[in-house]
Amino acid sequence: MKIESAQLLSTERAYEGAYVSWFQGPGLAKSVAPGQFVMVHCSTEGTDPMFARAFSYHRLDGSRFALLYQVVGRGTEWLATRQRGTQVRMYGPLGKGFRLPDARSNLLLIGGGVGIAPMVDVAERGVAAGHQVVVMMGGRTDAHLLPASHWPREVEYVVTTEDGSAGAKGFVTQHLGKYQEWASKIYACGPNSMFASLANVLRGNGRRQRPEILMEENMPCGWGMCYGCGIFTKRNGVKLCCKDGPRFNLFDVF
Ligand SMILES: Cc1cc2nc3c(=O)[nH]c(=O)nc-3n(C[C@H](O)[C@H](O)[C@H](O)COP(=O)(O)OP(=O)(O)OC[C@H]3O[C@@H](n4cnc5c(N)ncnc54)[C@H](O)[C@@H]3O)c2cc1C
Ligand code: FES
Repeated sequence: MKIESAQLLSTERAYEGAYVSWFQGPGLAKSVAPGQFVMVHCSTEGTDPMFARAFSYHRLDGSRFALLYQVVGRGTEWLATRQRGTQVRMYGPLGKGFRLPDARSNLLLIGGGVGIAPMVDVAERGVAAGHQVVVMMGGRTDAHLLPASHWPREVEYVVTTEDGSAGAKGFVTQHLGKYQEWASKIYACGPNSMFASLANVLRGNGRRQRPEILMEENMPCGWGMCYGCGIFTKRNGVKLCCKDGPRFNLFDVF
């Protein structure tokens, strides 16, 4: 883990209420596994808000990295309104990321809302390693979807919306359809309600794919010091989301 001030290079709107910010931060961008996260101090003085905020690595490019985030409160609002050139204190990479298969495989990536953030990096790595990649994103409306231009050309991108304004209507987990059988490995990130529903859909046949999820519990410290991110697992008792996760096997938790 590196503690560093990263320089803000750019911030652009990704979709309704969500932004992509690129940073220069060699230590923070080094040796990042897909699905790992970084803790960002979203304040100039570093004291208010006191705790750093967790964000998945969205994309990596040499010594640069991008975060995709939804503005939901003070920290994300602060981040979205910084000027280019601002130095932002961060520490990372943290947590255990996804394990991609060695042999060529069919990867199904599922993102609910801003849970799509880590999947662009995962897709880029998957394509580079010769895997077939399908990404499914579920959003509230057409305006809440990451545009197709953000994905590598080799990726098949399928969207669903709760109001039916783009793609099939409903939750993404209701529309896995043919991709459920096609996939040899499934990766997901989103709210707990999505994981619960995914577990119901995949229970039985989907167990063979050993779906991996990234859990986004509130994380005050991000590296195992505060015990504020504990979750109950089915077989292994309480686990810390930041240190033991955020990657878990879906059926160990749901
Ligand atoms: C490992 C991990 C990776 C994450 N990756 C991303 C990411 O890539 N992009 C992104 O936009 N967000 C991500 N999050 C969630 C992000 O950390 C929170 O949205 C952020 O901390 C909110 O900060 P804030 O000061 O803007 O909001 P606050 O003022 O702290 O909170 C505003 C609202 O958001 C809720 N909230 C705060 N934290 C979380 C959380 N972890 N999960 C769900 N609701 C929360 C609060 O309960 C409150 O209702 C991630 C969280 C974790 C733990
Ligand atoms: S966030 Fe502090 S122990 Fe996990």
